[in-house]
Amino acid sequence: MNTSPLLNSLLVLLQFVIVSLTYDHREEEMDKRRTSNVCRSSSECPQNSLCEPRGGGVEFTEGQCVCRSGYFMKASGKKRECIMIADYGELCFMNEQCEFRLGKESFCNNRQCACKPKAHYVVTENACFNNSKIGEYCRLTSNCVVEKTTCQHGQCRCHFGYHANMDKSSCLKNIYLNEKCYADEECVVEHSSCQDNECKCKASHVQASQEAECLPLATSLYQPCQQDSQCSSIPNSYCGENSTCICQRDHHDINAVRIIKNSTPEDEIVTFEISFNFFQRCWSSVRLNGICESDENCVIAHSSCINKRCTCDEGFHETRDKFCSNATTVQISSLLLLLSSIALVFTSLRLL
Ligand SMILES: *[C@@H]1O[C@H](CO)[C@@H](O)[C@H](O)[C@H]1NC(C)=O
Ligand SMILES: *[C@@H]1O[C@H](CO)[C@@H](O)[C@H](O)[C@H]1NC(C)=O
Ligand SMILES: *[C@@H]1O[C@H](CO)[C@@H](O)[C@H](O)[C@H]1NC(C)=O
Repeated sequence: MNTSPLLNSLLVLLQFVIVSLTYDHREEEMDKRRTSNVCRSSSECPQNSLCEPRGGGVEFTEGQCVCRSGYFMKASGKKRECIMIADYGELCFMNEQCEFRLGKESFCNNRQCACKPKAHYVVTENACFNNSKIGEYCRLTSNCVVEKTTCQHGQCRCHFGYHANMDKSSCLKNIYLNEKCYADEECVVEHSSCQDNECKCKASHVQASQEAECLPLATSLYQPCQQDSQCSSIPNSYCGENSTCICQRDHHDINAVRIIKNSTPEDEIVTFEISFNFFQRCWSSVRLNGICESDENCVIAHSSCINKRCTCDEGFHETRDKFCSNATTVQISSLLLLLSSIALVFTSLRLL
């Protein structure tokens, strides 16, 4: 298979970068081993150092003392010493021995290289790193001590598909609705918990039919909703007008304005007055002479439940179009009363 020239040049570039990185690292360590002592032979150099020719020329006239591999140069005043580098757990007598490879968060503890109290050792890096828990500042992923965490945007965060538990001491796999679980804190959907080993919406919520979320259960009428199941705690209600829980068409709430004469079927819904008390129940709407259980069932104005039937209240009578009225009766009766009084007066006059 032919590789493209672009890919080839990229590979060459990558190789170059890798080589220069390794070179830099070795150079750096080499620098720390140079004592800058001028020498002609190794016998002139401090202990554990060798005389290295300068400039790499053939003629070896003057060189520089360089600590042996595994040693570093430590200057104190004019004195230059080559001291053994110590790795994690190895014997030491000064902090610098440990710090050389293990970094600034290491120290010589009881003659053994260890990490500082708030740091930990990372084998793959062969160095000590400050401890960072979930949500704490980090510079590198090596700082993050909790399993399945990486340093993202300067903070230790759980891997994709995981989330922190309550006390942020571990990362838990994200469990969605209707998936198997062992503890509440595994369930990631808001308002869900682990019930019978499955993540389910809490009692105060219902699962959305379309999306994987828990919607709040309405506790009274006219509370906001997106779907009918949210209104299920109020019997005979549904998610209707204005995305609120409202009574079904043949039902009404206790504060509904009673239906009066000349109101159209549309009015019956609209005229249901909205007040914010006692919206816990939808009552079955019963018109005159219909079977009722309580006064609240009777929707016709000035009617009540008497002997299990919606009947006009005292002082009101049923009109031909099935409403309760006092006005006409009173007018007619007073007119009749007036007429009969007049008649009575006339009769009396005649009798006289
Ligand atoms: C590690 O922690 C110490 C003390 O909390 C702090 O002084 C030092 O700067 C930290 N090192 C890094 C690399 O963040
Ligand atoms: C719906 O909202 C409109 C406008 O805010 C309001 O007039 C109407 O009464 C509301 N209907 C119900 C049933 O809440
Ligand atoms: C008829 O009933 C209405 C409503 O209760 C009341 O306001 C009115 O005074 C009553 N009329 C008569 C004549 O009793």
